[in-house]
Amino acid sequence: MSKMTKKSISNSVIKRLPRYYRFIGELVKQGTVRISSGELAEKMSLTASQIRQDLNCFGGFGQQGYGYNLIELQTEIGKILGVKQGYKTVLIGAGNLGRAIATHMDFSEYGCNLIGIFDSDEKKSGSKVAGLGIMPVSEMESFFAAEQPQIAILCIPKTAAQELADKLVSLGIKAFWNFSHYDIKITHKDVVVENVHLGDSIMMLSYALTNSDNEKQ
Ligand code: NAI
Repeated sequence: MSKMTKKSISNSVIKRLPRYYRFIGELVKQGTVRISSGELAEKMSLTASQIRQDLNCFGGFGQQGYGYNLIELQTEIGKILGVKQGYKTVLIGAGNLGRAIATHMDFSEYGCNLIGIFDSDEKKSGSKVAGLGIMPVSEMESFFAAEQPQIAILCIPKTAAQELADKLVSLGIKAFWNFSHYDIKITHKDVVVENVHLGDSIMMLSYALTNSDNEKQ
């Protein structure tokens, strides 16, 4: 089966790819060479037909009676996700959240390379986080001109988010991972934004508990 281009994969499949990549990566680490759609479905709590449908979108590595070749699948999904690109990434706001993200995320696994950390509080300048010295925002322009980072992680208060995002777009940022609790608005069509709200995820738990309580009543 011929491989399809990125553009022909639907958004709903793309959204599932990181999860496939994660599960397949774990299996490869454990030394598993191949897996049937049924086994993978069981591990991922999906149906085998969903797996076959999704994985067929980009080449269908499954063979009747053999299953999926996990290394090939991992490589292909990794290529689609761009996990080997090492996009230059900066983090803005070296507070509690920013430091935790910088320290605990293995950016290289996700196609990113953290090259700079900035904070408006000059008292923080020079102190190290994840091996990088925090820089003052006054150094942003010269740093961006020299390094041309493409991704910005925003860990700043919501009041500062939109103004900073506009400035970063003017400095060449093409993608935002935005934790600021403000859904920034970017009008440039070639700039992408992921607004992250951990609270949205935990609310799914409160919703589930609330609704199961209702059922019991
Ligand atoms: P924090 O107060 O510890 O850190 C914020 C840092 O941003 C400070 O070091 C401050 O000097 C710096 N800063 C402020 N304005 C700036 C600007 N214009 N340019 C550069 N640096 C600037 O706060 P914390 O706990 O790290 O949280 C950061 C933000 O993330 C808050 O808005 C918080 O509400 C949000 N948050 C979001 C979560 C999410 O799921 N999206 C989860 C937890 C926190």
